[in-house]
Amino acid sequence: MRLVIVLLSALLPLAHSQAPDPFAWLFGWSQRSYFDSLRADIKGGACPEECDCPHSFPVSMYCDGRGLTAMPAIPSHIKYLYLQNNAITAVPDSALTNATDLVWLMLHYNQLRSEAIGKKAFVKLASLERLYLQHNNLSSIPSNLPHSLRDLRLNHNKIEKVTPADLEGMDNLTILYLHDNAVTDMSTSLKDLKSLTLLDISNNKLTKVPEALPEHLHQLYLESNTISSVPEDFLRRFTQLQYIRMAHNQLTDKGIPPNTFNVTGLVELDLSFNKLERIPPVSNTLQHLYLQANQIKEFTLGSFCSIVDVTSFSTLRTLRLDGNEISPADIPSESSLCLRVASNIEV
Ligand SMILES: *[C@@H]1O[C@H](CO)[C@@H](O)[C@H](O)[C@H]1NC(C)=O
Ligand SMILES: *[C@@H]1O[C@H](CO)[C@@H](O)[C@H](O)[C@H]1NC(C)=O
Ligand SMILES: *[C@@H]1O[C@H](CO)[C@@H](O)[C@H](O)[C@H]1NC(C)=O
Ligand SMILES: *[C@@H]1O[C@H](CO)[C@@H](O)[C@H](O)[C@H]1NC(C)=O
Repeated sequence: MRLVIVLLSALLPLAHSQAPDPFAWLFGWSQRSYFDSLRADIKGGACPEECDCPHSFPVSMYCDGRGLTAMPAIPSHIKYLYLQNNAITAVPDSALTNATDLVWLMLHYNQLRSEAIGKKAFVKLASLERLYLQHNNLSSIPSNLPHSLRDLRLNHNKIEKVTPADLEGMDNLTILYLHDNAVTDMSTSLKDLKSLTLLDISNNKLTKVPEALPEHLHQLYLESNTISSVPEDFLRRFTQLQYIRMAHNQLTDKGIPPNTFNVTGLVELDLSFNKLERIPPVSNTLQHLYLQANQIKEFTLGSFCSIVDVTSFSTLRTLRLDGNEISPADIPSESSLCLRVASNIEV
């Protein structure tokens, strides 16, 4: 039925000029919505020639993959704006002044440099929830981003620093992608992010775990940095953390305080490609532990089970220990009691 209405509304101008029609009641309905969206176009500005504003999605504007080098004019009723895969080099302060209803703004895969983004370019977008700026050429996070953001993607840029002002007041931010940048310092920039559940800062230049990590995180991705130690009790504050990835860092035994990773709730812990010589104690509720390519010399069963009996055993399913300094012969025979559900142990 929906398809029929869409087809009929496409034929409307033609149908309109003809004699009375048995489907007039149907035209009456679609005619109204056709002219409503036309009116909306005229009131807030027309759809620019280089973009598509389909009548079936009157609040969306598609300008992706068209070789644009500058921002198009944006009718004021548009909520979802697709500008990815172009060669846009600048977002001046004036570019988005009319577009105050925007909810999604997709600007990924362009050629934006920080100097070419107006200090107030995004400031009026009070309803903006998704801002995609990944795969550009930014050296800092744009100023005055709206506090309404929920999903902010800045990965694959050249960002070196994240300051507290950059992410201030973003109470509703849930997803933050900063991976594949050159971040050395985050200061306390994460402190306001009460709703953040996914933080990806892998592939940067961090030498330590960022301060003030939000306590509702579910996923924390820090791999491929140069972190050599973690703060005492840094996981205690989290109640919902399930995935920690810290592969490809410089972690040593000395840098990991006792029981750091023995916290319940964790599902996956990836510490592969570090410099550990011992297996750190983990909670018996952990399911996947990646320790390959470290310098582990001993299989310490006590890291998984401090006692073993009928009710107390590890729920570990995956254990990767390949690329260390132990061999299958180093695994004590009692392990089958402790690691009784492990289906995938690689040594
Ligand atoms: C904003 O809207 C005004 C009035 O409709 C129009 O003159 C102006 O060109 C628009 N600016 C942009 C950047 O779209
Ligand atoms: C990024 O900027 C640098 C100079 O700042 C330039 O050499 C390079 O071509 C730019 N890359 C892209 C993808 O625009
Ligand atoms: C966060 O979301 C709530 C509920 O949707 C909304 O009422 C509130 O204004 C939002 N906060 C900001 C800073 O936009
Ligand atoms: C983990 O901590 C609990 C109590 O918090 C303790 O009973 C258990 O022995 C510890 N596990 C290991 C492997 O040290």
